[in-house]
Amino acid sequence: MDVRPAVRPTQPQQQPQRTMRALRDRRDELAGRIALGDRVAVERQHRLGKRTARERLELLLDEGSFVEVDMYRRGTTGAHTDGVVAGSGTVDGRRVFVYAQDFTISGGSLGAGHAEKIHKVMDMAVATGSPIVALNDSGGARIQEGVMALNGYGGIFRRQVEASGIVPQISVVLGPCAGGAAYSPALADFTFMVRETAQMYLTGPDVVQAVSGERVTHNQLGGADVHGSMSGVASFVHDDEESCLADVRYLLSLLPSNNLEPPPSCEPPSDDDDVRPDLASLVPVSPNQPYDIRAVIGDVVDDGEFLEVHEGWAANVVCAFARVGGEVVGVVGNQPLVLAGVLDTAASQKAARFVRFCDAFNIPLVTLVDVPGFLPGTDQEYGGAIRHGAKLLYAYCEASVPRVQVILRKAYGGAYIVMDSRSIGCDLSLAWPTNEIAVMGAEAAVNVIHRKELAAAADPDELRQVLVARYADELAHPYYAAERGLVDDVIDPAQTRAAVRRGLEMLRDKRRRSPARKHGNVPL
Ligand code: HXC
Repeated sequence: MDVRPAVRPTQPQQQPQRTMRALRDRRDELAGRIALGDRVAVERQHRLGKRTARERLELLLDEGSFVEVDMYRRGTTGAHTDGVVAGSGTVDGRRVFVYAQDFTISGGSLGAGHAEKIHKVMDMAVATGSPIVALNDSGGARIQEGVMALNGYGGIFRRQVEASGIVPQISVVLGPCAGGAAYSPALADFTFMVRETAQMYLTGPDVVQAVSGERVTHNQLGGADVHGSMSGVASFVHDDEESCLADVRYLLSLLPSNNLEPPPSCEPPSDDDDVRPDLASLVPVSPNQPYDIRAVIGDVVDDGEFLEVHEGWAANVVCAFARVGGEVVGVVGNQPLVLAGVLDTAASQKAARFVRFCDAFNIPLVTLVDVPGFLPGTDQEYGGAIRHGAKLLYAYCEASVPRVQVILRKAYGGAYIVMDSRSIGCDLSLAWPTNEIAVMGAEAAVNVIHRKELAAAADPDELRQVLVARYADELAHPYYAAERGLVDDVIDPAQTRAAVRRGLEMLRDKRRRSPARKHGNVPL
C-alpha cells in the first residue's frame, strides 16, 4: 500500500511583495526580534542578578562600536545566534574581538554552531592582532550535541594556545562555567569573576557529593572568592558586572594589542619633579618591621595608580600594572605585610605567570625587593616549593624586556637571586642604603659560622652582639655588592621614582635575541 501523502493540487498562493522596502522591513523585524531575545528568559536572567549578553557588550565596548557576526546562525536549539553573541568593537578606540554567551538560549550551552562562531572571532583576533575578550555564562557542552560539542571546545582550547603570547586573552566569568569549559578561562591570560553569580568547577556539587559525600554549594565549590583567594584561577574579583567590565576596559588600556606592538603610552603627569620624600619614612630601617609595599608602589608610579593582579591570592607578593613617565610597566614587589614577604609556592607561581605575560607583551619589569627568603616547612617542600620557585627563576631568566631591580631592604639567599638579581639578567640594579644582600640575616649567619665560639663563650649573648655588628659592618650593606658590580647604584629612597624612570628610558630600545629553539621546558 502506498502510504505517501496525497499530493494536493497547488493552491494559488499570495506571494509577499518582493520590493526592496518589504525585504528591508522583514530583515529589520527579524534582526530586532533576535536582538530583543525571549522576554521570559531575559526576565529570568535579570532576576538572577545577571545582564544579558548584549547588555554586557554595551558595558564593555565603546558606544555604538559593536559589529556583530553570525547573528542569523542557528543550531540545534533552533534559536538565532545559537546562544552566543560574537563580533568586534572598540575599547577606548582600540579594536578588540569579543564573544558573549547567552544564557537565555539553552543556558548558553555550547554546540557545534556556537563553537564555530567563537572560532571565527578568535581567528579574526589573531589575524588582525587584536585582544580577545570572552564573556562566559554557560551550562557547558550542549548535551544534545554530544561529541560535536566536545569537539567545539577542543577548537577553542587549541586556538587559545596558538594565540598565547600573540594577542592578550581575557576571560570574564559571569555565570556558570562548568566541566571542561573552565579550561577556557584557565588558558586565558587574565580571568575576571563576579561574586555570587559566577562559578567555575570541573565537577558540580551533585557529583562531588556522589563521589565523596562532601556537601558544598555552587559558590563554596567554585565561587569568585574561592578562585580569587584560594585556587588562584581568578585574577580579578568584583562585586558586580558593571565594575567588572569597567576593570576589563582599564586592563585593556594598559596592554598592547599584540606582541609586535609596545603597550599604549600616554602623557607623563605634568609638574612632577619625581622626588618622593615620603619614601624614606615609609619603609622602616629595621629589616623585620612590616610596611605595605603597595604604598611604595604608589609613590613610584604615575599618579599613584596601579592595577593589582591576583590581589586576594598569594598576597605576600604584589604584581601590578602601572605607568612610569607615561609608559606601562609591570611591577613585582615582595609584601612585608603578609608572611613577612617570603616567597612560597603560591607567590612563586603568581609572580612567574605575571613576569611571563609582561615579557611576552613587551612590558618592562620593575622588581621591588624586600625578601627574607623562601617559606620553610614540610607543607612547602611537599607542595613543590622547589618546582614552583623554579618557575619564577625561569620566568625572570627568560625575560628579554627591560628589567630594573630596586632592593629596598633585605635580599637573602636564593630569594635574592630569584627576585631579578644581576646574575639572572636584570639590566639595572638599584639599592637603597638600607639594603642588606646576604646569604642570610646577620643573626642566623653568626649562629652558623661562629657556632663553636658561641658555645665556648662565657657570655654568648655579648659575643653574639659583637659578631652580628661585625658581620653587618662587613657584609650586610649595599656597598659590598656595589663594589663588586652587582648593584649599579646606591640611591636616596626619595629619588627612587626618578632613578627608575631614567633607567627605563635608558633601556627602552633594548633588544635581545636568543638562539632558535622550539621552546624551552619551563618547570610546570
Ligand atoms: C543543554 C542545557 C545545558 C547543557 C543548561 N541547559 N545546561 N542544555 N546542555 N549543558 C539548559 C537547561 O536545560 C534549561 O533549558 C536552560 O539551559 C537553563 O538551565 P537551568 O538548569 O534551568 O538553569 P539553572 O537552574 O540556572 O542552572 C544552571 C546550571 C544547570 C547550573 C548550569 O543548567 C546545569 O547544571 N547544567 C548542566 C551543567 C553540566 O553538567 N554541563 C556539562 C558539563 S561537562 P530550558 O529549555 O529548560 O530553558 C562539559 C564538558 C566540556 O561542559 C568538555 C570540554 C573539554
